[in-house]
Amino acid sequence: MVTMGRTLTSVLLLFSSIVSLAYAKTHYHDFVVQETKVTRLCKTQTVMTVNGQLPGPTLEVNNGDSLVINVVNRAKDNVTIHWHGVRQITTAWADGPEFITQCPIRPGGSYTYRFTISGQEGTLWWHAHSSWVRATVYGALVIRPKQGDSYPFQKPKRESVMVLGEWWNANPLDVIREAMRTGGGPNISDAFTINGQPGDLYNCSRKDTVIVPVDSGETNLMRVINAGLNQQLFFTIANHKFIVVGADASYVKPFTTSVLMLGPGQTTDVLIKADQPPARYYIAGRAYASAQGVPFDNTTTTAILEYKTAPCPAKGVSSKPVMPSLPAYNDTATATSFSTSFRSPKKVKVPTDIDVNMFITAGLGILQCPPTAPASTCQAPNRTRFTASMNNVSFVLPSNFTILQAHHLGVPGVFTTDFPANPPVTFDYTGNVPQSLWQPIRGTKVYKLKYGETVQIVLQGTNISTAENHPIHLHGYDFYIIAEGFGNFNPATDTSKFNLVDPPLRNTASLPVSGWAVIRFVADNPGSWIMHCHLDVHIGWGLAMVLLVEDGPEVSQKLQKAPADLPVC
Ligand code: C2O
Repeated sequence: MVTMGRTLTSVLLLFSSIVSLAYAKTHYHDFVVQETKVTRLCKTQTVMTVNGQLPGPTLEVNNGDSLVINVVNRAKDNVTIHWHGVRQITTAWADGPEFITQCPIRPGGSYTYRFTISGQEGTLWWHAHSSWVRATVYGALVIRPKQGDSYPFQKPKRESVMVLGEWWNANPLDVIREAMRTGGGPNISDAFTINGQPGDLYNCSRKDTVIVPVDSGETNLMRVINAGLNQQLFFTIANHKFIVVGADASYVKPFTTSVLMLGPGQTTDVLIKADQPPARYYIAGRAYASAQGVPFDNTTTTAILEYKTAPCPAKGVSSKPVMPSLPAYNDTATATSFSTSFRSPKKVKVPTDIDVNMFITAGLGILQCPPTAPASTCQAPNRTRFTASMNNVSFVLPSNFTILQAHHLGVPGVFTTDFPANPPVTFDYTGNVPQSLWQPIRGTKVYKLKYGETVQIVLQGTNISTAENHPIHLHGYDFYIIAEGFGNFNPATDTSKFNLVDPPLRNTASLPVSGWAVIRFVADNPGSWIMHCHLDVHIGWGLAMVLLVEDGPEVSQKLQKAPADLPVC
């Protein structure tokens, strides 16, 4: 009987997996990266886009589906595309960061990304992962429940995608090239955007302001993505509340708030109920700027939530939408109360027997210029150049080979495996750090993990040069954020704050300004996975490291073989 029962169960299991396989679809897309003339703020720039669109196409799939995206580079600069937050289980070749998992797609070249979405639902996005190309090469990736499954909340009447971006009155690639040449900070952006549009608080932007239509009483599932380059953003809607239901393509225990804070890389899914008098309400985003004394873009981007039955304004009367109040630019208390509100919907299996314990400092630094260097290349304060590091290593991308290929083919000399699991010197990370500790070393160092190891990483922000909030993103994984706090992480007392019951699952952690965050995950995806600050200016300065996860014993635990069209360097 027992055997028969088992057989029946396995037949049923087999049947159900065939059914879900039968439903899984493969989506084919062509992404043509091209130089496109785009006019914003009364000025026209030539920037890179996908298919001439800004933002690029929204991809809509169901959990379990596969994507085949042929990227053709018809632009003048290199490009790669990263599918931000997609786990890429055994398909690291399709992850996208240049010189980590692939060489750039050169002008005239192409590459087809093939991967499957498995076990992720909600909102992710895609973006270029080469220099600052992602300033204009980005778009949403909407993942609905598996065919036949439903949302874990009442089905919304409407859905909308709000991709927040940043716009320069310049070619963003020129902005970063200039910063890299001078060693100083790059120019700040001239506008923030919602779905590519700054909104009517900026010059020449009124007629293109994004409108989100609603009917009284209906609920809208709004997918908010911060695709901005260098700025954490507050996001709010006048007179309406958000019910947060997901983040980074994982559901969360619903909670209500009137303001969101997203670091670049993060996504938040919210339900908005149209329960206010029919009118027009501003949806607004502006900076959460946690670093003191650092210039930032203090403008406000807007869209309009418009009730379809809103009375038309009488002639001569202005129909200014209702403006929400936004938190102050430096309102860390609001940012913190938001980021600490996240929980998984129910009890989850957080790894508890930790095999690998890392403590990684993350922050800025400076490099002293040699006496022979021209002053024009040492434009950070006191003849220095800005830099950044993790555990005092300022990450340098390889330039003629990728880390993944070098690992796979056993090519020596591309990277070293001595990324330190702890900072080389212990100091008061969030205190007054002696200047002698401000200079990192440069290197292409990775940290090796065996397949299946359980990992805990304490991310510790530093006050070196400037303390600030850093959105730390890990490729190839979702991780639990089990605690965060301010000051130096104290293992004797802070472990009592660990949430091992229902911590949120994320791919990008908001590392508090002058603070710490603790993440945990199981290294169950082979490949070379970059972990970096998602402020692009910091990546360029070296705020990154790579986890190199080895193959497991089973076939399903090994990196698949490299695609034949993988670009070579
Ligand atoms: Cu969204 Cu390494 O990136």
